[in-house]
Amino acid sequence: MNIRFALGIAACALLAAAGAVSAQQPIIIKFSHVVAINTPKGKAADYFKKLAEERTKGRVKVEVYPNSSLFKDGEEMEGLQLGSVQMLAPSLAKFGPLGVREFEVFDLPYIFDNFDELHKVTGGPLGAALFKKLETKGIVGLAYWDNGFKVMSANKPIRVPPDYKGLKLRIQSSKVLGDQMKALGAIPQVMAFSEVYQALQTGVVDGTENPPSNFYTQKMHEVQKYLALTDHGVIEYAVIANKKFWDGLPPDIRATLEGAMKDATKFANDIAQKENLDALAAVKASGKTEIITLTPEQKAQMKKALVTVHRANESRVGKETIAEVYKETGYKP
Ligand code: LMR
Repeated sequence: MNIRFALGIAACALLAAAGAVSAQQPIIIKFSHVVAINTPKGKAADYFKKLAEERTKGRVKVEVYPNSSLFKDGEEMEGLQLGSVQMLAPSLAKFGPLGVREFEVFDLPYIFDNFDELHKVTGGPLGAALFKKLETKGIVGLAYWDNGFKVMSANKPIRVPPDYKGLKLRIQSSKVLGDQMKALGAIPQVMAFSEVYQALQTGVVDGTENPPSNFYTQKMHEVQKYLALTDHGVIEYAVIANKKFWDGLPPDIRATLEGAMKDATKFANDIAQKENLDALAAVKASGKTEIITLTPEQKAQMKKALVTVHRANESRVGKETIAEVYKETGYKP
């Protein structure tokens, strides 16, 4: 057998081996998020990982990076568009900077009274239309995951709008939320979620807003004396993927992952309310934060002060978008 023929055989064998090895390499999905593991989103991300790996029999490996351990707010969207991470689940309040300001309709104060109204929108034509708008940004929308209704917190009792006067309050990167705080006479400060605890501890900000699950798991009860059950807005998430990555998946894998995402979404939305009730109970049990329940009159004062935010954002968020949510929720400004 001449040398050249032998070398040819060896080369083929090597190529075949290399092909086999790469075929066995799992597809890696880096899933980055900014909250703690023991939260609705943290648990749902881990559940998605479990289902995806089980159902693809290891052909997919999901690496979940919680607590801003890979990317923090303000970095993760760019990381997704560049393909440095394949999946995120940001709050809908963080899509404005991406140029899809319609998502801020979800931030309008008191626009949702309960989860059913919220699901009519996320599960309806508007929810789908908003995802469509992401495609031009190289992003595909996969699902909407619940967290919960927000509370307000500070180191002084907050019941009615005058109590908020002059307070520096941390918000997510949403202009609607900025207007919300200004309508209360407070001073909004956009800040990454990972920086909130320290900013509260050092007094860079006086207070903030979030559902109890984030408030408790970020230990904000250690640095906030009062929490008011305002239910003035929601934190809702969009699970999104890099479009090129998602469209490039083998069709059978993508179908399996879509199934896993569907079940993880049901899981997320089934646990969200209880996670927040448990967190509120834990805050109470800590004895570190006084929980203020607003009277119907006090809540009415909050609603009255905040309705201006709706009108003020008609051009930014879109009159039609707002009208569509009003139609689904029955909200009357
Ligand atoms: C926040 O920044 O307050 C939240 O969006 C964090 C989260 O993802 O729940």
